[in-house]
Amino acid sequence: MATPHNILVTGGAGFIGSNFIRYLFGKSTAEGDLFNDADFSGTVVNVDCLTYAGNLENLADVEAEFGGKRYFFEKTDICDSKEITRIFEHYNIDTVIHFAAESHVDRSILGPEAFVKTNVTGTFTLLEAARRYWTKDGSMRNDVLFHHVSTDEVYGSLGETGYFREDTPYDPRSPYSASKAASDHLVMAYHHTYGLPITLSNCTNNYGPYQFPEKLLPLMISNIKEGKNLPVYGKGDNIRDWIYVEDHNRAVWLIVNKGKRGEKYNIGGENEWQNIKLLHKLIELTAKETGKSVEEIEKTITYVKDRPGHDKRYAIDCAKIKNELGWQRKMTFEEGLKETVKWYLKNTSWIENILSGEYKNWIEKNYKEQGR
Ligand code: NAD
Ligand code: TYD
Repeated sequence: MATPHNILVTGGAGFIGSNFIRYLFGKSTAEGDLFNDADFSGTVVNVDCLTYAGNLENLADVEAEFGGKRYFFEKTDICDSKEITRIFEHYNIDTVIHFAAESHVDRSILGPEAFVKTNVTGTFTLLEAARRYWTKDGSMRNDVLFHHVSTDEVYGSLGETGYFREDTPYDPRSPYSASKAASDHLVMAYHHTYGLPITLSNCTNNYGPYQFPEKLLPLMISNIKEGKNLPVYGKGDNIRDWIYVEDHNRAVWLIVNKGKRGEKYNIGGENEWQNIKLLHKLIELTAKETGKSVEEIEKTITYVKDRPGHDKRYAIDCAKIKNELGWQRKMTFEEGLKETVKWYLKNTSWIENILSGEYKNWIEKNYKEQGR
């Protein structure tokens, strides 16, 4: 198994991808030195077309210190086969870590096309470029790796009991999860058919700094701060398992370095919360940090129309990555949530900037009645 040198990170300007690049360069935002253990000395090429969710501000300090030396940014669409091929050749890529995606379920319900394009065709384009570039003299190199970052949502929805395991059959139910499932299948097919060295990870809901404020936690923190309504879908009894973004990224890095080629690994926080209970907890923490009254914030909770096809519960059995690779999450939820609340309250201009683009018009058009 070869050590990664020239890594192509896709979607590196988004939430998880930018935290991943920060982690590789020892720039974790978590307090203390908890996550600065990547021990990486190679090169990163960040390929991102900067959709509404991509933001280079997330990496300003990485660019300032490593730009043009060990860090390179290429504003490119992953569906652009010619450009992707050029990038493989120009940087002599030996490892792909593929984060780029359209990532929000609500948007996939309103406009599924972009999800099929980026998540399916984009992944296919990358796989093809990798296969071509890594085939030498008619055979596939075995010192290279394509790691695909995916979601637990491909497994469908759980009832009150049970967990998703690596061998749970796929049963995606939203256009987002269906497009991610299709991409997972393509990645596996390239391994079985062409011998492409791959690994794949399916992770639960991430939280932490730099998450676009359309997802539950940053949206709620930002709305609490602004005194806006807090839109809870349905009865608020859906359940998600939450993991700190850098615990996810540490798992990805471990799989890239030590994971068995051709295998998939589940990553989870072992930390299930009903949405409404999580919101109460968040309100309590945010009230403490802002000096607002819990009672006043609670009054802004607004139950809104449920998401169509809303998956009830996600929960991951992550025994495989724990037993085989020795992964453990480091961040406690108590600490991680507190740091996350503080981060969003402090970085108000980051939120203002990211919300000032095309997203603002989109949200006004689609979610006016929810008081967002
Ligand atoms: P995000 O929406 O914050 O970021 C996605 C990034 O991809 C953005 O920078 C965007 O500009 C870029 N991008 C989108 N389309 C592109 C294209 N066609 N070409 C190039 N770049 C493009 O998403 P995220 O939350 O950081 O998720 C990253 C990955 O992790 C996704 O594959 C997602 O399915 C997976 N995942 C996310 C979670 C989660 O909780 N957020 C959980 C499990 C898995
Ligand atoms: P989200 O952050 O969109 O992630 P996912 O749909 O991928 O799990 O949503 C997390 C949960 O919170 C999900 O059950 C939907 C719910 N939710 C709300 O109740 N209100 C909101 O405004 C949002 C964005 C999500």
